[in-house]
Amino acid sequence: MRIDVLTLFPEMFRLPFSFGIFQRAIDRGLVSLNVHNIRDYTHDKHHTADDYPYGGGAGMVLKPEPIFEAVESVTAEIHLKEDSGELPVILLTPQGHPFSQQLAQELAGYSHLILICGHYEGVDERVREHLVTDEISIGDYVLTGGELPAMVVIDAVVRLLPGVLGSEDSPRDDSHTSGLLEYPQYTRPAVYRDWPVPDVLLSGDHARIARWRREQVIRRTLERRPELLDKAELPLAEKRLIEQLSTSSSQADEKKSKLSENRGSRE
Ligand code: ADE
Repeated sequence: MRIDVLTLFPEMFRLPFSFGIFQRAIDRGLVSLNVHNIRDYTHDKHHTADDYPYGGGAGMVLKPEPIFEAVESVTAEIHLKEDSGELPVILLTPQGHPFSQQLAQELAGYSHLILICGHYEGVDERVREHLVTDEISIGDYVLTGGELPAMVVIDAVVRLLPGVLGSEDSPRDDSHTSGLLEYPQYTRPAVYRDWPVPDVLLSGDHARIARWRREQVIRRTLERRPELLDKAELPLAEKRLIEQLSTSSSQADEKKSKLSENRGSRE
């Protein structure tokens, strides 16, 4: 996969991708990351990439010309080299489509991606209307720019590319790949500060371990992200387990609230 990033701060991308799995993926030619400075596509003496908003208001807005020119230059180069097919041009913005594991999987299916990092008060609307094919947000909070979000997207996508992770740490069991959260993991020592690893994991009984892990997936998702279970397609036995667990946990909640009521009346 070839990824092109357009940013006002190319230096930010140097370090995060020069380690471990990512560096190995670059060295093995599984991914190439090309970072472009939007200012290189300006034509004035001061390399102006932003300007005041029409109609007034706080902050500056990224100008359309350098962004259009940068994207057009990158796409021309890609098309020259090969017939690239569909080429997503993605703007990172808090107004975008929420990023998810499913979206990462979708993006991992392309051979190229172009990511535009927004900045200041925003980007001229014509970039959104006439250049960008998708807008992505990494969460309901506002960062100073699209660089960190672009890095998040790149990391989540690249680790899904075939050959990037060794088969031993395949993304198959990741939290969210199945739509549910991952089971708990332990490593040696078997007992640490009086806290033992669950017996079942030392049993060598692979079927029992698989059953235990699956139950943990359900329990954990129910405790932390119950809304994910509503969307998951589960066998009947697991649906029953959820019912059972929900009843016992609502009974526990009732007990807990009685306790706090009692405490309240004593105070
Ligand atoms: N730029 C600023 N905040 C962002 C966010 N939450 N997601 C994507 N891009 C952004």
